[in-house]
Amino acid sequence: MIAKPKGTYDILPNESEKWAKLEETVRKICKLYNYKEIRTPIFESANVFHRDANDTSDMVTKETYDFKDRSDRLITLRPEGTAGCVRAYIENKLYVDNNQTKLFYMGPMFRYERPQKGRNRQFSQFGVEALGSDSPLIDVEVISLGASLIRALGLKDVKVKINSLGDEESRNNYRDVLIKHFSSHTDELCEDCKMRLKKNPLRILDCKVDRDKDFFKSAPKINDYLNDYSKKRFETVLKALDSLELKYEVDDNLVRGLDYYCHTVFELEVNVPEFGAQNVIGAGGRYDKLVSDLGGPKTPGVGMAFGMERLLLANELMGKELVRNTGIHAYFIALGDKAREEIVKLMNICRIGGLSCEMDYSGGSLKSQFKKADNNLARFTLILGDNELNEFKINIKDNSNDVQETIGLFDVYPYIVNKLKQESLGACASCNKKE
Ligand code: HAM
Repeated sequence: MIAKPKGTYDILPNESEKWAKLEETVRKICKLYNYKEIRTPIFESANVFHRDANDTSDMVTKETYDFKDRSDRLITLRPEGTAGCVRAYIENKLYVDNNQTKLFYMGPMFRYERPQKGRNRQFSQFGVEALGSDSPLIDVEVISLGASLIRALGLKDVKVKINSLGDEESRNNYRDVLIKHFSSHTDELCEDCKMRLKKNPLRILDCKVDRDKDFFKSAPKINDYLNDYSKKRFETVLKALDSLELKYEVDDNLVRGLDYYCHTVFELEVNVPEFGAQNVIGAGGRYDKLVSDLGGPKTPGVGMAFGMERLLLANELMGKELVRNTGIHAYFIALGDKAREEIVKLMNICRIGGLSCEMDYSGGSLKSQFKKADNNLARFTLILGDNELNEFKINIKDNSNDVQETIGLFDVYPYIVNKLKQESLGACASCNKKE
């Protein structure tokens, strides 16, 4: 048996409806906020992601799937959606005639990480990117869109952690004091942080290894080094979040794992114990230099991405049912070859009219076929034998009340439709609403 690669998984038929429902919910929310879908390639030229030799993010330095294609081009399987969106934005000149371009995407991403619950090597992200506006209010729109999705999925106990990395001047000031602070603890730093100290000291704050050490806790805080512009900008973001009654927690140590961020950065965390260590369901921030770094015109951007597996896991752990298991309308049981041929025609008529139908083409015992009707949660089970066929009749059982009747062979479609219609009228009558 050939097994799937480590860190990947199959979405089996009994799970795919949940995915479809999640995707449908995402699309509805994006429509409300007027974000338009973009679909970019799953692989890109390696330099879309490997842009800067000084990049310190684990994702770029350790986790990408890189390979040469047959023409010796260096290719990378996308580890995230932002850089590919920005590449497409530039290449297709989406900025022409548009001072604000709002995009969303869903699809697989690839990172060579150590697999565990909620962390895979192939996983799916839903992300949004708003390009062209540097207004702090659009940062808030992105967070608010994330909050709307969480609400629509019925998720509770989601914490929004937020911080500001300020503009370049603020980060440079902060960088200097951080270097000074951590340089006096070089021996105590983990190997990764020793490298970060040289390339991007801010990323030390993201370290899971050094996090609990005293010198880490006493490190200077970015908020004390934001210049007036950055401070004001951050205050505007927080004020707008307050005005939307979106709860958040300012986290001084939040710097995010990717190197392209400036100003607003945020993470959405689920606080359910069973979730385990990978409890960040979504994250994002502002990236005002990424478009120009990728060769485009100077354009600000902000966005976020959710791990779709983590959204579904959170949903499951909170006991929410994303989809109610709905069955089919009609399951047909044929007793004999002639009946089977007739049922093929009957199912065709029903399906054209919008009724979902199923039969077992290879037959089997009556008992096993009734069982299959049950397994398919069929609303009606129809049984056709030679005798009924000769009289142009068929037996139909309503599985909601176990009432069985014999009806005309050509009445199957109107019979089922009428029953379903009466039922929906009945439901409306009982809640006093007019049809
Ligand atoms: P990220 O924090 O690297 O940000 O990933 C966003 C989300 O993807 C995470 O919060 C997590 O839910 C999910 N995720 C990441 N890695 C894995 C994994 N190995 N297995 C399962 N889920 C995972 C970004 O990717 C940025 N592009 C977000 C962004 C968009 N920033 C601005 N625009």
